[in-house]
Amino acid sequence: MAIEELEAYRGRALDALSAVSDPASLEAWYRAHLAPSGEANTWKRSIGQQPKDERKAFGQAINEVGAALADAYAARQAAVAQAELQRRLVQEAVDVTLPARARRAGGLHPSVIALRQIADVFCQMGFTVFESPHVETDYYNFEAANMPPHHPARDMQDTFFTTDGQVLRTHTTSGQVRAMRCLGPGPIRVILPGLCYRNEDVTTRSEMQFHQVEGLLVGPTVRMSDLKGILMAYARAMFGPDQDVRLRGSYFPFTEPSVEVDIRCTLCGGDGCRVCKYTGWLEIGGAGQVHPVVLGHGGYDPAKNRGIAFGLGIERMLMLRHGIDDIRHFFRNDLRFLANFR
Ligand code: PHE
Repeated sequence: MAIEELEAYRGRALDALSAVSDPASLEAWYRAHLAPSGEANTWKRSIGQQPKDERKAFGQAINEVGAALADAYAARQAAVAQAELQRRLVQEAVDVTLPARARRAGGLHPSVIALRQIADVFCQMGFTVFESPHVETDYYNFEAANMPPHHPARDMQDTFFTTDGQVLRTHTTSGQVRAMRCLGPGPIRVILPGLCYRNEDVTTRSEMQFHQVEGLLVGPTVRMSDLKGILMAYARAMFGPDQDVRLRGSYFPFTEPSVEVDIRCTLCGGDGCRVCKYTGWLEIGGAGQVHPVVLGHGGYDPAKNRGIAFGLGIERMLMLRHGIDDIRHFFRNDLRFLANFR
């Protein structure tokens, strides 16, 4: 009787085990059957209740069932582990045929790259870099540059003012008198690179911010011919060894005489095209001999010293060099544009 019940239990236990297919239910089955408090062990405690002459056979039968369940359990455990491994292999599969994901490194802004190239060119000519503030006083940006209050030339530059009465520098010329006061009274040969700001309508040709590189030489023997030679060397370094420079009479309050600096059109080579408006020349900046009033503000005696200065637009230069038709690209931070300059 008991033996039959035991056999029925073996059948139930094995059936339950064959339905097990994952680690959690395998664990539950083990606790229900083979663990010390499991059903297979409770049978052992019932041996004493059997008739004396059946105890031996019953005990053997219990041990047999226990061993059979343990074997079946071990086999099931191996199968579940194998299935589990298979599942993970499928789930965590790596498709080695997928293209690699490129790591995108950051890069320098095209204007910064150009500023560094330009600094290299001028440093080879013996210039050093002088930095001056972006937030500038009215004095250095205008007055020291020979534009006293109400000077009509102030209208040439629409200015951003800070709430405490300073200005965002409208040109790097704002650093000229700072450089003279800082480096004087000896000769000076510096460039002043950096951002400038103007309160302008943003169009394809003008932005609210742009980079300039100012150049300043001061000394007893400095002449306009030095200016032309320096600008020629710059143009040839940036636009190729055959470049030509033309100085065209102009007006700036802080230079006298003043010139506009032109290079031969990079697109048509001087024959005349739409980009150079059929003149064969492109403007790259302004320049001139430093006005005596500016030298005076810088602490130099204009009777004994002369200066030459130039201001070059960086984005404008890059637009000419790369055929870029819209200055707004430079400050849009569109990677499709910026990545071209790595
Ligand atoms: N500051 C002038 C400008 O922004 C350029 C310039 C610099 C002209 C130095 C003459 C000398 O247009």
